Amino acid sequence: MDKLKNIPILLLLLLLGVSHSNAQSKDQLKPKQEMLKLADQVLAQSVKQYKLMMQQLPPGQVPRTFENGKFATASPYSWISGFYPGSLLYLYEYSRDSALLKDAGVRLKDLEKIQYVTANHDLGFMMYCSFGNAYRLLDSARYKDILVQSAKSLVSRFYPKTGCIKSWNKIKSLDGKRMLNFPVIIDNMMNLELLFFASKVTGDPSYKNVAIKHTETTLKNHFRPDYSSYHVVDYDEETGAVKSKETMQGFADNSTWARGQAWAIYGFTMVYRETKVKKYLEAAQKMAAHFINHPNLPKDKVPYWDFNVNQPGFNPPWKYDPAKYPEVPRDASAAAIVSAALIELAGYTDPKTALKYLTTAETMLKSLSSAKYRAAAGKNGGFILMHSSGGVPGDIEVNVPVSYADYYYLEAMMRYRGMGS
Ligand code: GLY
Repeated sequence: MDKLKNIPILLLLLLLGVSHSNAQSKDQLKPKQEMLKLADQVLAQSVKQYKLMMQQLPPGQVPRTFENGKFATASPYSWISGFYPGSLLYLYEYSRDSALLKDAGVRLKDLEKIQYVTANHDLGFMMYCSFGNAYRLLDSARYKDILVQSAKSLVSRFYPKTGCIKSWNKIKSLDGKRMLNFPVIIDNMMNLELLFFASKVTGDPSYKNVAIKHTETTLKNHFRPDYSSYHVVDYDEETGAVKSKETMQGFADNSTWARGQAWAIYGFTMVYRETKVKKYLEAAQKMAAHFINHPNLPKDKVPYWDFNVNQPGFNPPWKYDPAKYPEVPRDASAAAIVSAALIELAGYTDPKTALKYLTTAETMLKSLSSAKYRAAAGKNGGFILMHSSGGVPGDIEVNVPVSYADYYYLEAMMRYRGMGS
């Protein structure tokens, strides 16, 4: 009986303990002052960097990289064409500096014709990162129409038989020996955000139905049991059967290309946001766990370009010369994409998991913001980050700045500032 007398007190202490630890974890989930300061400093310097870049950018082009002291550009038809105007818009949102908005407007004009492109799946990258941000900030009916037409072009590549959007047209496999007729790449998940948008603004569910079907097919065929991703799945267009699972930009067919895994995490997090289907959240978490708990993820959490470089059991189907890269190149872009994704994912999970996601994102952002990865003011051709790897097989843009690393880094910093608001 005496023991029972103590129960209310014990309960009270327990409740106090629980509410104390709840308050503690809630506090831990708030943006940290030190990180907010860093975000402000980075964003302010990035405004200056992009104004510098703006001065060197020829008309009708977008920035591609800065390599061996040379600034390289690309046309609006490149898959990267949306990132520069998108970055200008994030920086305008931060600074309200009208020079940034003005140049974004000029580059958007160059991009308008892309709304009719049906030759590849990149419409989401090109149009949603650019016009999507412009519509979010400026609410222009014209931008909305351009986005809807872009979504129409993208869904023209959906095949009911395979249940997915064809990413590229016919292409030779990385070993050059076979033809891939219906290649779908994990990156394609990123283009689906444009389709969810089109359904929202038109009230026509057909766009989002394509996005959901593509997500289902990707979930079924693009992942190994440990939720690491294949880069490419090739389908038989007539029967819908999977013909092969391989890589075009990774180290080996069975390896995990870091940026591919980053696209997967970001893509499934976004699809969960748009559908609220639990299965997609669980999948995103498993994909994130694979990335952030990987034994080969360096301490600073900026991944090597592929998680399995030089490991036994992973055989490159391309001419790989280890002497060419005595140090395995990193991919800063993958860390930028994952940090943006983790900040969002943290908003959908229990406090303990959210804390892990946030601290990982903070480590990534702190590393990227350090002098090791972030260029000094006035350097790097105006790009913000250094050390991304575009396509190591093929030796394209290895260990250099790229516009998509900057874009997702700025997005992550803006998301961090917006946390809790
Ligand atoms: N989406 C192309 C790439 O990630 O390289």
